[in-house]
Amino acid sequence: MNYASIIGTGTYVPEKIVDNHMLSELVETNDEWIRTRTGIKERRITTGENTSDLALKASEAALENAGIKPEELDMIILSTLTPDYFTPATACLVQRRLGAKNAVAFDISAACSGFLFGLDVADSFIKAGKAKKILVVSSEVMSKVIDWKDRNTCVLFGDGSGAVVLEASQKTGILNTVIGSKGDIEGNLISKSRNVSNPFMETPETGENYLQMNGKEIFKFATRIMRKALNDVLDGTEIDLGDIKYIIPHQANDRMFEYVAGKMKFDKEKFYVNLERFGNTSSASIPIALDEMAKKGLLEKGDKLIFVGFGGGLTWGAALVEWQLN
Ligand code: ACO
Repeated sequence: MNYASIIGTGTYVPEKIVDNHMLSELVETNDEWIRTRTGIKERRITTGENTSDLALKASEAALENAGIKPEELDMIILSTLTPDYFTPATACLVQRRLGAKNAVAFDISAACSGFLFGLDVADSFIKAGKAKKILVVSSEVMSKVIDWKDRNTCVLFGDGSGAVVLEASQKTGILNTVIGSKGDIEGNLISKSRNVSNPFMETPETGENYLQMNGKEIFKFATRIMRKALNDVLDGTEIDLGDIKYIIPHQANDRMFEYVAGKMKFDKEKFYVNLERFGNTSSASIPIALDEMAKKGLLEKGDKLIFVGFGGGLTWGAALVEWQLN
């Protein structure tokens, strides 16, 4: 059997650090509110780099870590909710700049669950024998879709990119994946693109298009769906939650992790959390956390991990992984 095994990880975040105090100069908020409600202390914000710029650097780091050349890649899957353009796909921009001339490249739009959707697709291609080496890169410039006058949302997000290289292996790797969607017709989490406007309309749409969120509804959805995804990804395997060394969640809100750990009766420390330094970087948050863990030496060969996330769409997903690197 072909497994998709993670053979390298990489991250890139912009240099500029924006802490909670700096935000309190923009909107009526304060460090204490943000920290106690979310766990976030600071985030990185780009001062000019776009989504493909961040993705390129994270991808280069992951390829170097994996010890493979860009030409060896069969596929580049890039997840983002903040692409550079409607077209070309951000993945194609990265492919060109990397020099990954043998890779097919395309984007995935699944908001904060994008990395998990990307892993699922990559895993399927590798299992089917249709690709051997795949780069999955998640990159977000959330700062360009945030309303910096809205304190309900502007305190939550950050910019960044994380990437993994997957390779076909006969031994082990991704053991199981689940992904799901439920159309958010209520608009609980939405970031519009261009308004509908053309010379043949009586009333072109007007208004600004920023990310809007019903925080309470998303909190309820996220805590319910994380529990479902954790159960579903273990279902049918011989692994249970007790065997899992770390759960790497989409880094949205520390209180969510406390709630989920309490409900499922496991130690909250099982969740690896680094949102205090990066905020919510949407689909990039899981690979950024994973790379940090790998670099810190927290992961050993044979460790069982679960990545779990949720986001706009609404979407969700989880991946059960046996770590292959030393
Ligand atoms: N600073 C100070 N006060 C604030 C701020 C702020 N930044 N934001 C909101 N408030 C106020 C509200 O206006 C409200 O005031 P009011 O009572 O006078 O109306 C009060 O604080 C309480 O607001 P709530 O919305 O009840 O606060 P809550 O405890 O629900 O926390 C939060 C809000 C943190 C957004 C929470 O609902 C949450 O985490 N939701 C999930 C959001 C999330 O993670 N989204 C992203 C996931 S999907 C993705 O990643 C794209």
